[in-house]
Amino acid sequence: MVNDLGSYRDEFPILAERTYLISASLGPLSLRARRAATEHLDLWQRLGPEELWLAHGLPKLEQCRDQFSQIIGADPDEVAIVPSVSSGLSSIASCLDLGDRNKVVISDMDFPTNSYVWRAQQRRGAKLDFVSSPDGIRLDAGDLVDRIDGQTAMVNTNRVLFESSWIMDLPPIVEAAHDAGAFVVVDDFHGSGIVPVDVHELGIDFLLSGALKWLMGGQGIAFLYCRRDLIEKMQPLVVGWFGTKKPFDFDRSALDLRDDARRFETGTYTLPQAWTAAAGMEMILEVGVDRIRARNQELTSFLVEKVDEANLDLLSPRDGERRGGLIRVRVPGGRSNAERILHELFRHNVVLDQRGDALRISPHFFSTEEDIERCFEELQRFV
Ligand SMILES: Cc1ncc(COP(=O)(O)O)c(C=O)c1O
Repeated sequence: MVNDLGSYRDEFPILAERTYLISASLGPLSLRARRAATEHLDLWQRLGPEELWLAHGLPKLEQCRDQFSQIIGADPDEVAIVPSVSSGLSSIASCLDLGDRNKVVISDMDFPTNSYVWRAQQRRGAKLDFVSSPDGIRLDAGDLVDRIDGQTAMVNTNRVLFESSWIMDLPPIVEAAHDAGAFVVVDDFHGSGIVPVDVHELGIDFLLSGALKWLMGGQGIAFLYCRRDLIEKMQPLVVGWFGTKKPFDFDRSALDLRDDARRFETGTYTLPQAWTAAAGMEMILEVGVDRIRARNQELTSFLVEKVDEANLDLLSPRDGERRGGLIRVRVPGGRSNAERILHELFRHNVVLDQRGDALRISPHFFSTEEDIERCFEELQRFV
């Protein structure tokens, strides 16, 4: 269906050497991201801080902010640039009062860092209510909705579950949370850039995502979206000079946080990564999230066929509409065998990752059916 994406393969040198099917963990380095990184190094070599940061670095960050906003349907001033999802979520958590309203609804399918952040908030009075998956693959919106009540301060959910790639049905959760006066924070690391979203339409309060996986932008840059009408009410306890209105005034007489989402920004940025992040997101926007989604669905459907042919257990949704960017497949022999198989695959230039007794396979828009064929040829030799 989508047939001119093959031209992007030349952008990724690793594809000439290895069958790379793990953008869910780390997007591959592109030639344009490498050129961008070099551009930063060349500027750093030639310029002093004022010129490097003010004339080049901060505009590059604005480019990233703008690109990410387009990807999720936000306005740029609703997006803060943070070093990681963990730190962004900690900042959001620090804004909650947690007095009378102190319950946090979360699930055992969310990425562990989400739960660590909220467990730390137990010291400030948070009470965590964990929802379990019935089968380790899906998480029903109704099960979260049932836990939301007048005590609930926050509902923490991932839009696409990182292990199984189940796509959550968010609208009922948002509606129930808002009816109860609670906020919703969405960890979107496995959705942004590959499964279309419009944060305004969805009505969520906060969203977090990072550049290193599906956005192919390298490590050290993540994004925090905060709904416009909440921004000025949010008073994070995690702050720094770049979250203030006039950082270069060096005024220490007061804390004057910005009026936009940048109040969530703290200290010196991981600026070199802005160059690679912008290059990665440039490709996402060039190809288009809708097209990426369509191609990814074709490829993950093909993966499901291959899993069935190999008589292995699929630990991801069969329904393509509910399936995000990856599939997870159980291999016999438990976790240690899965680790062994993974390392055999590495030796034979097939790059995946492993979670417990299963392997995760995540094609991106530049992946092909041939990559998947090759992956399964090798996989079946070692299972
Ligand atoms: C869904 C999800 N959230 C959060 C993280 C971790 O984010 P960070 O390292 O930016 O805190 C990951 C994986 O690395 C993830 O898959």
